[in-house]
Amino acid sequence: MDVSFTHTEQVVFDKIAKAAAELSLPAYLIGGFVRDKIIGRPTKDADIVCLGDGIALAHRVADLFEPRPTVAYFKNFGTAQIKLPAFEIEFVGARKESYQPDSRKPQVETGSLEDDQNRRDFTINALAISLNQADFGTLIDPFDGLKAIEAKIIQTPLTPAQTFSDDPLRMMRAIRFATQLGFNIVPETFEAIQAQASRIKIVSQERITDELNKIMLCKKPSIGWDLLYQSGLLQIVFPQMVELHGAQYIDGHGHKDNFYHTLQVIDNISEHTDDLWLRWAALLHDIGKPATKQFEEGHGWTFHGHEMVGARMVPKIFGKLKLPLNEKMKLVQKLVALHLRPISLTKENITDSAVRRLLFDAGEDIDGLMLLCSADITSKNKQKVKRYLQNFELVKLRMKEVEEKDQMRNWQPPITGEMIMEHFKLSPGRNVGLIKDAIREAILDGLIPNDYESAFRFMLEKGAELGLSLSE
Ligand code: CTP
Repeated sequence: MDVSFTHTEQVVFDKIAKAAAELSLPAYLIGGFVRDKIIGRPTKDADIVCLGDGIALAHRVADLFEPRPTVAYFKNFGTAQIKLPAFEIEFVGARKESYQPDSRKPQVETGSLEDDQNRRDFTINALAISLNQADFGTLIDPFDGLKAIEAKIIQTPLTPAQTFSDDPLRMMRAIRFATQLGFNIVPETFEAIQAQASRIKIVSQERITDELNKIMLCKKPSIGWDLLYQSGLLQIVFPQMVELHGAQYIDGHGHKDNFYHTLQVIDNISEHTDDLWLRWAALLHDIGKPATKQFEEGHGWTFHGHEMVGARMVPKIFGKLKLPLNEKMKLVQKLVALHLRPISLTKENITDSAVRRLLFDAGEDIDGLMLLCSADITSKNKQKVKRYLQNFELVKLRMKEVEEKDQMRNWQPPITGEMIMEHFKLSPGRNVGLIKDAIREAILDGLIPNDYESAFRFMLEKGAELGLSLSE
C-alpha cells in the first residue's frame, strides 16, 4: 500500500525525517491522519510519535522552518505542538500507558512503537507510517488496520475490555467513527460496550458531549443515536431520549415509536442543513411527548401541549449536557415550541392573519422552523408524505406572499412603547403594555393596516377607552 502525500505534506514530513535522523529519534505518522489518508478523506492535523523525547524532536523540526514556528509544549505530558499555516503537528514520545480501573490518571512509561500502537483505541487508528530515511513512507500495521479499513470495521487492537477500561470514552468514539465512516463495530467490541456502558460515568461531560455533537454533524446521525441506544450508553448519557422509545397499545390502538420517528426527523433535516442547532432542535422536537402522553377513550393517543412541555425541558437538557446556555439554546427552545405551527396551517383555510402571526412569532428563525417542519413529516405511507409536503409547499407560498405584501420578517409594530409613553405622558406600566399589545394584535389580525397612520389612530382609540388624556 502506497500512501501519497500532497506537496506541502511531503515538504513538512521530509523536514521531520531530517530532524529525526539528526537526533537519532525514529519518528512515525500515526492515528487519524494515516487512517484518513488511506480512506481518502480530507486529512486534518498530523500526529507524530517518536521513540524518545517528542518535545526535543519538535524543537529540532521547528529549527528547519523559516520563519521558525512557535513550539507549544507540555512537559508533564511529554507532548509538543507546532502550528504551521497548512496544518498542525503534534509530537509525542512512544508510550506504554495504562489507566487504573477507577482513575482517569494514566501511568505512563516510555515504550516502543508497538507499545504505542497497542494502547490506541481502534485498529483503524493504530496504523503508522515511517518517516525515517531508511524506510520513509512504509506502512507499519501490526493489527491489520488496513484490512479493517477495507472491510469497514471498527475493532480494538487489544481485547475490547482492556481498551475500553483504559479510556471509557472510546465506547462513544467507536459509535462516532461508525457513524462518520459508515463502518460496522464488530460484535465482540459492541458486546464489550454493552457490558461496560456504565463506566462512561467516569468520563467528563464535555468529552461526552463532544462526541454527541460529532455524531450530530454526521450525514446520517440516526446511525449513532440508534447505536447509543442499543449499547445502553444512551440510557446513561441522555435518559430522556430513551423515554421516547417504544409504542404502547390500549384496545388495539398504538402510537408511533417516537424514538425512531425522531431519528428519521434528524436524518431528514440533516439532508438540508449542517447547522448543529437545527439538528439539535430536530432531536428534541418531541422530547415533551412522554410527559404528555394520554389515552383518551374513543380518541386514541394524544400528546397535548408536548411542544410547550418540550420547550421547557430544553434548558435543563442543555445544562446537563453542558451545551451552551446562550442564544443557540433559545433558538432550539423556540423551534421546539413552534414546531407544530406551520403544519397546523395546512389543515385549515389559511388566513392572512394566521400566516402573519406565524411569521411574527418565528421572526428571523422562520427558515429553520420550516426546515424542521418539513423534516417532521414522516410516514411509512409515501403517498401521504407526498401529499403533506405538497400542502406544505402551499403554506410556504402563502408565507412568501404575505411577507412580500406586509413585510413581516423581523417585523416590529410601527408604534413603540416609548411613543405611547410620550404621547399619553405615562411612565412605564400596565397601560403602556396594554396599548402596545393591542396595536400588535390588531395588525396581526388584519383589523388595521400595518402602517404608522393606522396604528397611531388605533393608539388614540385605545387610550380613550382606557380613559387616558392626550398630551398637548
Ligand atoms: N486515541 C486513542 N484513544 C482516545 C483518543 C485518541 O487511542 N480516547 C488515539 C487514536 O489513535 C487517534 C489519535 O489518538 O487516532 C488521535 O486522536 P483524535 O485526534 O482524538 O482522533 P482522530 O483519530 O484524529 O480523529 P478526529 O480528528 O476525527 O477526532
